[in-house]
Amino acid sequence: MTDVQVDDQFIRAWDANARIRISELKEHRDSAYTDLSSILISQLKNHTPPIHSVLDAGCGVGALTNLLHETGFAAIGIDPSEASIHQARQAWPESSFAVARVEQMPTERIFDAVVANMVLHTTTSLDSFCQATSAVLADHGVFLATIPHPAFYLFAKEPSLNPEYSHEQRFLITFRINGSEAHPRKVPYVQRTIQMYTDALYRAGFHEIRITEPPQVGVGRPHDVLLLQGLL
Ligand SMILES: C[S@@+](CC[C@H](N)C(=O)[O-])C[C@H]1O[C@@H](n2cnc3c(N)ncnc32)[C@H](O)[C@@H]1O
Repeated sequence: MTDVQVDDQFIRAWDANARIRISELKEHRDSAYTDLSSILISQLKNHTPPIHSVLDAGCGVGALTNLLHETGFAAIGIDPSEASIHQARQAWPESSFAVARVEQMPTERIFDAVVANMVLHTTTSLDSFCQATSAVLADHGVFLATIPHPAFYLFAKEPSLNPEYSHEQRFLITFRINGSEAHPRKVPYVQRTIQMYTDALYRAGFHEIRITEPPQVGVGRPHDVLLLQGLL
């Protein structure tokens, strides 16, 4: 299968799961999502220079975009999954959304920040995502990305897949939040090392990269999440 076909298969998975995902988030049933949203919002609020405009790249059903909007940022959420954006527009009519990949955004360098919450590990091309992100950021812009922790997440969740830490591997995995039913469609997970992420960010022009490893988010396993921050 070509990367374009794999990407298409990945996006159809998010389409298929959009309805269940919006109900989980509207009912605040995903405690990890709530914690991660707070971490991201607090990083944006405390950033110097101050941040006004934020692109939520890979916004899914848009809960974080809406929180960014309610916090006072000029936020727009984009996602290639049409069904996810449809749910987002219905759930959060005050917020702005578009069906698009970050690679399709005009390179006008207008955003002070780009956030990608649990997105990078689902992309087939990390380089094109990071380069497109860098191209939409203003001077001194910041890129904040969360990913499942590359060294721990899959090894604890799906040891039977025999993941390798040392090289890139693509999987489709079952997704469910604690105590809830599994989502109807398996979702993409691209296993990469932390260094693959930092190398891609440097290649895209970020000159400083900070890594944070929150000990626990939500009620899930400890050390499940990594936060990457790229500064232009
Ligand atoms: C795990 S979901 C996360 C959604 C949302 N950020 C959240 O936390 O609920 C990953 C999302 O990334 C989106 N995505 C994948 N590749 C993308 C790209 N190149 N540009 C923008 N979004 C992308 C997918 O369509 C999917 O909705």
